[in-house]
Amino acid sequence: MSEPWVKMVTAQTPTNIAVIKYWGKRDETLILPVNDSISITLDPAHLCTTTTVAVSPSFVQDRMWLNGKEISLSGGRYQNCLREIRARACDIEDKERGIKISKKDWEKLHVHIASYNNFPTAAGLASSAAGFACLVFALAKLMNAKEDNSELSAIARQGSGSACRSLFGGFVKWNMGKVEDGSDSLAIQVVDEKHWHDLVIIIAVVSSREKETSSTTGMHETVETSLLLQHRAKEIVPKRIVQMEMSIKNRDFASFAHLTCADSNQFHAVCLDTCPPIFYMNDTSHRIISCVEKWNRSEGTPQVAYTFDAGPNAVLIAHNRKAAAQLLQKLLFYFPPNSDTQLNSYVLGDKSILKDAGIEDLKDVEALPPPSEIKDAARYKGDVSYFICTRPGRGPVLLSDESQALLSPETGLPK
Ligand code: DP6
Repeated sequence: MSEPWVKMVTAQTPTNIAVIKYWGKRDETLILPVNDSISITLDPAHLCTTTTVAVSPSFVQDRMWLNGKEISLSGGRYQNCLREIRARACDIEDKERGIKISKKDWEKLHVHIASYNNFPTAAGLASSAAGFACLVFALAKLMNAKEDNSELSAIARQGSGSACRSLFGGFVKWNMGKVEDGSDSLAIQVVDEKHWHDLVIIIAVVSSREKETSSTTGMHETVETSLLLQHRAKEIVPKRIVQMEMSIKNRDFASFAHLTCADSNQFHAVCLDTCPPIFYMNDTSHRIISCVEKWNRSEGTPQVAYTFDAGPNAVLIAHNRKAAAQLLQKLLFYFPPNSDTQLNSYVLGDKSILKDAGIEDLKDVEALPPPSEIKDAARYKGDVSYFICTRPGRGPVLLSDESQALLSPETGLPK
């Protein structure tokens, strides 16, 4: 081990969208929530974080690069994750390269971390969830920690609450837990991504000029001032969690859509009940809700569910491909791209839904008829930045192909 060597691991972790929301902490340092939550993991092909972690005796301090730019690791959340993972490190040996690290060596060795999101970090698409989940998962593999993904989720939770749900694919439940040290506040898989594979998810990234209140600040203020949150956490969510788990297991879309929309709306009502009130949705968000509500009502049974996080973007979950194609037609009718935008860069992700919708170019978008269930046929060009078509996806994986690593195997610095 006299030569300086670099040992690394690369992992890929998905993002997730909550259908029963986490909002409010009972412990801000350990990140313990006031209620359980349930999410869908999104297909990493369209939205994911890739992270390479490396260790070398030549590294003089822990360093991290996010999307190519060095960022500070001094924040409490990073420090908590690094400390918790180091405490679980085990011996590793790479006989071929003559590398041996013992459990106690890990206390002195430094790590380099490079992380990359395959979607715009600034778009408000839960990048911290995928990011912390990937950091913890990759470090655990590098350090040969023996913990399973649920146990790792309790560490990722200390980076960002919603990150704990990104340790699994499919539908995931975050148990709020009871004990003070937070060891039972962790994620478990409800069903895997194959269980309800015909769901299609369309995300509308809504144009917005306003700087939003961060989730962390927003939920702190809600806990301090909203009585409605107390009622939600104690009386509403526990019952909804049971119903939601049942509707997922039974693939009962009507019940699933009803609960998802109601919980999103209640989360935003709780934000409005905060002093001063927090507004995350904007006029475009409200128009999307109204479009879905009118369509669902006209069909007599829900075709699509909507949910919104701490920002104006809509996440729309369609019952199947047919409903998704119809939804995309309606969305493109209301929100056509600006004239200088190509359809190809306006509808991202799984573009086969566009084909199903019979839309090949901007001329087809122009020619779309107004949805029959509405009277007001106004169109809102430019109010949506772009759409992403995706589906429920798998949990974290290791990428064994070294060409996908973000750090150089020689220097341990970004490639
Ligand atoms: C609205 O996990 O971003 O997306 O724990 O403070 O990092 P911190 O907050 P974060 O909050 C997510 C809130 C939400 C709902 C959800 O994902 O359940």
